[in-house]
Amino acid sequence: MTLLCNMDQSRAAAFAEVFERALPEGVPFSFDAASVDPDDVRYLLSWLMPEDIERYTNLEIMFSTGAGVDQFTSDRLPANVKIVRMVEDGIVRMMQEYVALSVLMLHRNFIGYKEHQNKALWQAIDQPQTAQRRIGVLGLGVLGQAVLDRLAPFGFPLSGWSRSAKSIPGVTCLSGDDGFEQLIATSDILICLLPLTDETTGMLDAPLFSRLPKGASLVHVGRGRQLDHQALLDALDQGHLASAVLDVTEPEPLPTDHPFWSHPRIMLTPHIASVTQPSTAAIAVSDNIRRHLQGEDLIGLVDRNRNY
Ligand code: NAP
Ligand code: GLV
Repeated sequence: MTLLCNMDQSRAAAFAEVFERALPEGVPFSFDAASVDPDDVRYLLSWLMPEDIERYTNLEIMFSTGAGVDQFTSDRLPANVKIVRMVEDGIVRMMQEYVALSVLMLHRNFIGYKEHQNKALWQAIDQPQTAQRRIGVLGLGVLGQAVLDRLAPFGFPLSGWSRSAKSIPGVTCLSGDDGFEQLIATSDILICLLPLTDETTGMLDAPLFSRLPKGASLVHVGRGRQLDHQALLDALDQGHLASAVLDVTEPEPLPTDHPFWSHPRIMLTPHIASVTQPSTAAIAVSDNIRRHLQGEDLIGLVDRNRNY
């Protein structure tokens, strides 16, 4: 009953140090696919699905090293294999930092002031108070809820949208098509924290941008394939949207001649909003293996019909 880990040497040591003491007794681990007996592999931890996944005929759980599982081609896994996404404190904390920083930067017009600075222009920009800047979050999962919690003390009116109806103190929780329309129409800063699925692919598109309030901004930390690049450029260049912070694009990395690199109203980062932290991620995997062995619910279990 082995846990096989597929990752860079540079990260393996930090995971190994925690696995030594945190994995349940009787569950050895290996970072070397060539030296394990494939029949012994019950648990696999990886970002991508290995090319030779079919050789692990006794696999029970496929763990993602990241929060997303869209990179797995799950139709190659037998139906009985569970897929588990990464739910760990490091990812959560970094996403809270990134989104809070982006929202405050947009709220306080830092993108506009950078343009002023480039022109040596010492001039204030009209500044609404937080109570007048409405925040909308697409996706009320682990990360959507965590960023809303971190934003709450600033006093922004907060809304969020998810597939199922939710109740979160201090947040207007919306769902369904009507809820979606309401969220879009009332988001001065829209944050995308949806998983990539067939339903969410391409949803940040021209019709959505046109229904955001004039002067709205986007913070995109979901997945690149959710965003129509040209539609965003058009909405910015026509002045309907004010600015965008983008952490994810399609493709990654972006080609060097892509217009996002030099757009004055886009802040671009190379998919670093959250980075899985080995010390806490290894604890999360160990705890899930213990849960599995004891017949308890797994944390981050993916619904294989919904793909998130
Ligand atoms: P999660 O806990 O699974 O939450 C997903 C949320 O999206 C849920 O609230 C879900 O609704 C909602 N949702 C999914 N499909 C929907 C649809 N078609 N319509 C309406 N709502 C829908 O996921 P998470 O841990 O918060 O992570 C979210 C995503 O963030 C990941 O999948 C990944 O793509 C991205 N991410 C990015 C980075 C980065 O560095 N940029 C890092 C980590 C994660 P229900 O609650 O009703 O199911
Ligand atoms: C990063 O994008 C992740 O899914 O953890």
